[in-house]
Amino acid sequence: MNIGFFDSGIGGLSVLREALMLLPNENYIYYADSDNAPYGTKTREEVKRLTFDAVKFLNERKIKALVIACNTATSAAVRDLRKAYNFPVIGMEPAVKPAVQMNNNGDKRVLVLATALTLKEEKFQNLISRFDSEHIVDMLPAPKLVEFAEKFIFYGPEVSAYIKEIMPENIDQYGTLVLGCTHFPFFKQALEESIPGSINIIDGNRGTVNHLMSVIKNNNLLSPSDTKGKVTFYKSGVQVKDQTILERYKNILYDTKAEKHTF
Ligand code: DGL
Repeated sequence: MNIGFFDSGIGGLSVLREALMLLPNENYIYYADSDNAPYGTKTREEVKRLTFDAVKFLNERKIKALVIACNTATSAAVRDLRKAYNFPVIGMEPAVKPAVQMNNNGDKRVLVLATALTLKEEKFQNLISRFDSEHIVDMLPAPKLVEFAEKFIFYGPEVSAYIKEIMPENIDQYGTLVLGCTHFPFFKQALEESIPGSINIIDGNRGTVNHLMSVIKNNNLLSPSDTKGKVTFYKSGVQVKDQTILERYKNILYDTKAEKHTF
């Protein structure tokens, strides 16, 4: 049986990459809904419908667990998905808790970069109420980064100009930047170079995969250690067999320098 991975596009590959390191003997089906990306500028209802369609497709291909490797789809659909399916569903949320803990005793603030939908959803607002009692967290949507990523552009003049345009002027008041969208870790180098001074950049990918690992183990779903795991890619319901697209996917997935390249 497979572990299903779902994202609006290629962002979830940044999470799958961690899963391949920690759970290398599993078989994965990765579903990128690239034809319908971006999700972050859509309504909650649209995102929920698209996510349910994709999960139905994955379920028909036999999955033993599902990672919603998308903060936006998680906020719109995770609760209802858990009611609808029996397999474990692992969602994602911006890493606000560790970021607040890192900055609480100092005078620095936290900036959460995510999609507009993630930031306005109840799930995120609840997260803020639980962990931001000192009101040190600010939010910033970055829709163009999703567009760049879907075009396999992760670095270069257009990317740095956009980052400089959206970053607040008084950026040095921030100690931590939370990447609350799975498309954003691919821009880590561009962000570090475009933001003056030093800022910690964190994401929730490792935490999500640690959670996946414990769920898989606790439910006795781990594949035998002699299994040679593989990844099957689907793009909005169509298996990716075209070698050029497949190579692009694989490059971002396996090349640790991927985020430094413009494809
Ligand atoms: N990768 C997604 C996330 O983590 C959403 C990107 C989009 O389609 O807007 O929120």
